[in-house]
Amino acid sequence: MILWIRLVQEAAVELSQVIHRRRMVRQFASTPLPETVLKRVLASALHAPSAGFAQGTELVVLDRPDQITEFWRITDPWARKRPIPGCDPPVIVVPLADKGAYLRRYSEPDKQGLGMDVVEGWPVPYWDLDSAMAVMLMLLSAVDEDLGAWYFGIFHGEAELLRWLRVPDGCRPIGAVALGYPSTSERARGSALSRKRRDLEEVVHRGGWSR
Ligand SMILES: Cc1cc2nc3c(=O)[nH]c(=O)nc-3n(C[C@H](O)[C@H](O)[C@H](O)COP(=O)(O)O)c2cc1C
Repeated sequence: MILWIRLVQEAAVELSQVIHRRRMVRQFASTPLPETVLKRVLASALHAPSAGFAQGTELVVLDRPDQITEFWRITDPWARKRPIPGCDPPVIVVPLADKGAYLRRYSEPDKQGLGMDVVEGWPVPYWDLDSAMAVMLMLLSAVDEDLGAWYFGIFHGEAELLRWLRVPDGCRPIGAVALGYPSTSERARGSALSRKRRDLEEVVHRGGWSR
């Protein structure tokens, strides 16, 4: 019993460490990612919750240098976003939200009458939400594997990207996740450096906003 409690406590500590250690890593070592490690990170996405268990997230994996180069050419032609030369990630995962999977799922008998068989019936686009949850699990799983991970938005070239990847109609990328071992020269960058993390008291509104 005591051993079981200790094991549970240790697991909880580990999870909180993973959560606190997670940050975006934007420069990568050239070390390839072992296939088993990559598979574990990808598999974590399967444990994300999803509305009606629709599971409408698809993952395109780019793990060849020519594929990574083409991804950047399409999505970042001005090289504003991509890592400095020599620090490209060995893997980029493009998570795609399949809206159609949700509309089909919510047309099934147990979901009929909710009005969610049409896009307008959804309070928020759960397809994007669910894919974001899958991304979060991959980011945490990457920390657990001592990898660096970087989620970023795709602001350019979406149509060309979808054509290049032969993505079926109805699926849209919610961004991309770069994965790899952090470069030794890697330092925290981005907005997190110039902005302070909000305090719990500022974020939490017990019983609503105070009057
Ligand atoms: C929806 C979303 C979009 C983001 N887009 C970008 C992006 O385009 N480029 C980038 O470098 N980081 C991007 N980020 C990462 C944020 O800048 C980062 O999460 C934030 O500054 C906090 O830093 P941390 O994740 O390292 O704690 C994005 C994060 C989210 C959640």
